Amino acid sequence: MIQPLIRDIRTLPPESQEITVRGWVRTKRELKNLIFVEVNDGSCFGGIQCTFDRIGGLAEDTESVLAAVSTGASVEITGRLVPSPSAGQEAELTVLSVKIIGDAPADRYPLQKKRHSLEFLREIAHLRARTNTIGAVARVRSRLAFGVHEFFQSRGFQYVHTPIITASDAEGAGAMFQVTTLDLEALAKSGKPPDYGKDFFGKRSCLTVSGQLEAETYALALSRVYTFGPTFRAENSNTTRHLAEFWMIEPEMAFARLEDNMTLAEDFLKFLLATVLKDNAEDIAFFEAHIEKGLSGVLRSVMDSPFVHMTYTDAVAELEKNANTFEFKPFWGCDLQSEHEKFLTETVARGPVIVTDYPREIKAFYMKMNDDGKTVRAMDVLVPRLGEIIGGSEREENLKALEERIRSLGMDLEDYSWYLDLRRYGSVPHTGFGLGFERLIQYVTGMANIRDVIPYPRAVGQVEF
Ligand code: 4AD
Ligand code: MG
Repeated sequence: MIQPLIRDIRTLPPESQEITVRGWVRTKRELKNLIFVEVNDGSCFGGIQCTFDRIGGLAEDTESVLAAVSTGASVEITGRLVPSPSAGQEAELTVLSVKIIGDAPADRYPLQKKRHSLEFLREIAHLRARTNTIGAVARVRSRLAFGVHEFFQSRGFQYVHTPIITASDAEGAGAMFQVTTLDLEALAKSGKPPDYGKDFFGKRSCLTVSGQLEAETYALALSRVYTFGPTFRAENSNTTRHLAEFWMIEPEMAFARLEDNMTLAEDFLKFLLATVLKDNAEDIAFFEAHIEKGLSGVLRSVMDSPFVHMTYTDAVAELEKNANTFEFKPFWGCDLQSEHEKFLTETVARGPVIVTDYPREIKAFYMKMNDDGKTVRAMDVLVPRLGEIIGGSEREENLKALEERIRSLGMDLEDYSWYLDLRRYGSVPHTGFGLGFERLIQYVTGMANIRDVIPYPRAVGQVEF
């Protein structure tokens, strides 16, 4: 039988039954004849307290083993599960015997009991999942990932695996990582331009920035689909909200308009918040106590109230009224800066806001044009602290309009001919969005830096492990 997890042991009634736990030592405290060892196996936030009583009941060699029990060591402890006199825990283990599985010498193990900064922990990312904070992030991340599938699968969306290597630029923004097997050093020496015909795929290829275009092709066959996978952006943005490799969830619905997209996004976020509040209560309580005060109250209030809707034009008018408060002066046509997004969510709406109908110049080529000829059916969901968490739109389903847009942006129609086929054959209104998975985790946990909500962050100048 596989070893029961501490999260299961913690649900057992303490009736002096003999139990064995395996895990890593968090702390050891000595009080004359009593020694307390806190063992954690990461299966839930809390560990289990193991009490050694020197006066009676311990196996003979226990004293010598105990000397090697130190923070970070892995242990196997057998004892009796009894009601705990200490506050904050139902049960503890009265130890009968202890074995060290792997020691962790105190003079070398980097994660001693003291508090460590998140910056320091990033340097030892291979060990940081053993801390309260990063362990809690990992459990929340796992639960949210499952919640994404639960939400869409129960609503008739099919999961589509879109490619990671691609020859098309889905956002038309050009911030892509190139994938090549060409000998770059030899090329540099030869002084000749690269011949992509001789490259692995026979043409210039990159890592995808979004699975949207391919998801659209499946939405126009299966009606409702979603992707959930890694995406890559070679933007030189060294911020607390940008990664070079991040995970994105992209639903796409056929026979649907922007209003349906906004409803879907709001229901989706609320479902995910409810899931984590219910299933990760201990983790969230920790974030609330140590990372972001008032967190669970905020999440609950977001679940209970409708999102504010606002057009880009109205949003800019609101910003212009307060122009003095911004470093970057807002004007109609400007890309909303993070200070603007912060103001809209934190001061104007005091909660999530969906901003729609942006000027076409600042949005991607595939978005549906409004009748005004100036704005497109775009939507961004902005939240306090982070700003943009979701970006989406209704898609231009009209062949002529889409061709014209691609051409006017100086993009090659030939590159997008397969995408245009969707408008040539059985075109329908359709819509979708992308949720940045790490931004969602930041929102739910209150973690300030995106590099602390993904196990091994990849960002400008950072690719360790
Ligand atoms: O707004 P974006 O660029 O939209 C798209 O990629 C569309 N193709 C989505 C769609 O309609 N299917 O990105 C979507 C979201 C952003 O709102 C943000 O949450 C996240 O992806 N995101 C990033 N997250 C971390 N690091 C980055 N560099 C990110 N860039 C975007
Ligand atoms: Mg965006």
